[in-house]
Amino acid sequence: MTYDIALLPGDGIGVEVVDATLPILEDAAERGGFSVETTRYDWGSERYLQEGAMMPADAIETLEGHDAILLGAVGHPDIPDHVTLRGMMLPIRKAFDQQVCKRPSVLFEGVESPLRGYEGEDIDFVVFRENTEGEYTDAGGHEHQGYAHEVAVQTAIYTRQGTEAIVREAFEAAEERDGRLTNVTKSNAQAHGMVFWDQIVAEIAEEYPEVTVERLLVDAASMDLVRRPDEFDVIVASNLFGDILTDLGAIVSGSMGLAPSANINVEGHSPSMFEPVHGSAPDITGEGVANPLATVLSVSMLFDHLGEDDAAANLWNAVASQLADDGAPRTPDLGGASGTESVVSDLRTRL
Ligand code: NAI
Ligand code: MG
Repeated sequence: MTYDIALLPGDGIGVEVVDATLPILEDAAERGGFSVETTRYDWGSERYLQEGAMMPADAIETLEGHDAILLGAVGHPDIPDHVTLRGMMLPIRKAFDQQVCKRPSVLFEGVESPLRGYEGEDIDFVVFRENTEGEYTDAGGHEHQGYAHEVAVQTAIYTRQGTEAIVREAFEAAEERDGRLTNVTKSNAQAHGMVFWDQIVAEIAEEYPEVTVERLLVDAASMDLVRRPDEFDVIVASNLFGDILTDLGAIVSGSMGLAPSANINVEGHSPSMFEPVHGSAPDITGEGVANPLATVLSVSMLFDHLGEDDAAANLWNAVASQLADDGAPRTPDLGGASGTESVVSDLRTRL
């Protein structure tokens, strides 16, 4: 079996962590008894600065034929963030109908949480974030710019199909895990879209009687992710709320450098995309200290998605074993003094 993976390293440390992860991806595939062919597309901010577009016009057709996509990050200090994000990541998520964004937050043994009193695997939850609509819908306008009556409108859209898709995936995950689902909305203030969302959660809950459903408003959920992160199992949230809560999830479980993510096309008619949660980190770009583990864990999720369970587990366990080992190299975000390359070399010995 050979899988055909598209690599989109992107910008900044995105390029560093994808390059560093490649040899591990190949090792893990070989041990898993399959091979991976990669095609690298150097799209992103450098291309934008030279040619005025992050990706070529036929980018989506080019990516369409691949089995999966591994993305680094996009973002450049000289280009507004909405240009980079809307020029590359959001169009891919939308074109390939990657409606489900799955982001696990695990406090690995040997990693220190900034919160007191938690250790190895006390924190272990997964956020299911709606990924192609909601607050990130490209609907709105900005008129009369520069005049006193200037106005900006940004509309959030919740479709029944999209909401059902994310909610159903979250229930499926809760059923396989500890049977607890937390539905995060803001239905007190946003009485149209969010009340509709709650209604769909209630409808689908009927199909999963063994899953306990808790409801939290997003402000209370933010507090509780700090106050009692160990009590969460599966969280389902809209695009914006899921985005915010997963940064919180990443940091309470140790570092942005450890948080992986999957953008999934549930029906399987288009490729899914896997990427670390973090951005291009211009503050550390070029220093060789970016933590590659979020990307390695994202590759584990990619293998899992392709049905290569052994290779997925092998990668995940290698990361867990390295983090649990006092003597292993660590990047500065985890309190160490090692660089990306030494973390990768050590990891290859653990596969
Ligand atoms: P960021 O995630 O790039 O960095 C936040 C902080 O975490 C920085 O101090 C950075 O050094 C640290 N950090 C992140 N990843 C790390 C890693 N692997 N190892 C060690 N430390 C790490 O977020 P920020 O600074 O808000 O955004 C920088 C750029 O990235 C912006 O242009 C933004 O638009 C873009 N961005 C892109 C994302 C993506 O492509 N998925 C997601 C978030 C931001
Ligand atoms: Mg984010």
